[in-house]
Amino acid sequence: MSEDSMHTASPDMPISRSYSANHRIPRILSIANQKGGVGKTTTAVNLATALAAIGKKVLLVDLDPQGNASTGLGIKRAGIRKSTYDVIFEDATVAETVQPTKVPGLFVLPSSIHLSGAEIELVSTEHREFRLQRALRVPLPYEYVIIDCPPSLSLLTLNALVASDSIVVPLQCEFFALEGLSHLVKTIERVNKSFNPRLEIHGVVLTMFDRRNNLSDQVADDVRNYFGDKVYKTIIPRNVRLSEAPSYGLPAIVYDMKCPGARAYINLAKEVLKREKQILSGGGQTMDATQAA
Ligand SMILES: Nc1ncnc2c1ncn2[C@@H]1O[C@H](COP(=O)(O)OP(=O)(O)OP(=O)(O)O)[C@@H](O)[C@H]1O
Ligand SMILES: [Mg+2]
Repeated sequence: MSEDSMHTASPDMPISRSYSANHRIPRILSIANQKGGVGKTTTAVNLATALAAIGKKVLLVDLDPQGNASTGLGIKRAGIRKSTYDVIFEDATVAETVQPTKVPGLFVLPSSIHLSGAEIELVSTEHREFRLQRALRVPLPYEYVIIDCPPSLSLLTLNALVASDSIVVPLQCEFFALEGLSHLVKTIERVNKSFNPRLEIHGVVLTMFDRRNNLSDQVADDVRNYFGDKVYKTIIPRNVRLSEAPSYGLPAIVYDMKCPGARAYINLAKEVLKREKQILSGGGQTMDATQAA
């Protein structure tokens, strides 16, 4: 266990499990933006797939009761016995809950409809903000954990942020892209102060960019003015293949590897890993929430 992880784990994290030698504390990235339909799930699924294709062992955690990441990876609702819900409430371990996907090296912690009740149940649960941290910030056989957050700043999202090293924020290239973002930034500040000082913004990814539309350029400029270098160079274009792929239960990178959307997500994964190298070598590419505000 790294020193960092020992210091930031919740005080009463269980320690009496047996771990195999190839287990380690994973890097945990949340894909979060409380705005609906901005490309969180598409980014989570395709970034996770691209990281796996590059050779990383990846766990995608579906934290959204809608379960779009799970179905988008071909997991049938009927086949889900244990879900992220059971992990949160300690009715199952991560190992008992993960399911393999068609992508080698990519595993999923599936969502279930029970998650829609989790918010209310969590309110009266002990260590309610630390449930995911306790399950995920332990030695696991994954290098990366990617969490697909629901479109809210609820206790579920809070659990994701408390467990994470960094956040990737997808922003749709539309007129109100930046609207409401101050709430996300304030939530990160609150998490920094009260629960997880480690949490940083890894980067902002512009999604659904339409190069025929001047507004997309304008929005991209505004976002770069606001977030500076935090905005990844890779921009995800609007591409129908990205929206078709989930109905086949496949990530776009598998469904049509050559489509512009798939290529963009492969580039995004490379950029994410480049930043990771800088962060892990102490280069400090990330900034804290106050710098973004
Ligand atoms: N780059 C893109 N090009 C075309 N369609 C896209 C693109 N990104 C996402 N979509 C489509 O837009 C819709 C919303 O995307 P997605 O589900 O990824 O957003 P989300 O932020 O996860 O939504 P929610 O807030 O409901 O969880 C989906 O139908 C998806 O297939
Ligand atoms: Mg989603």
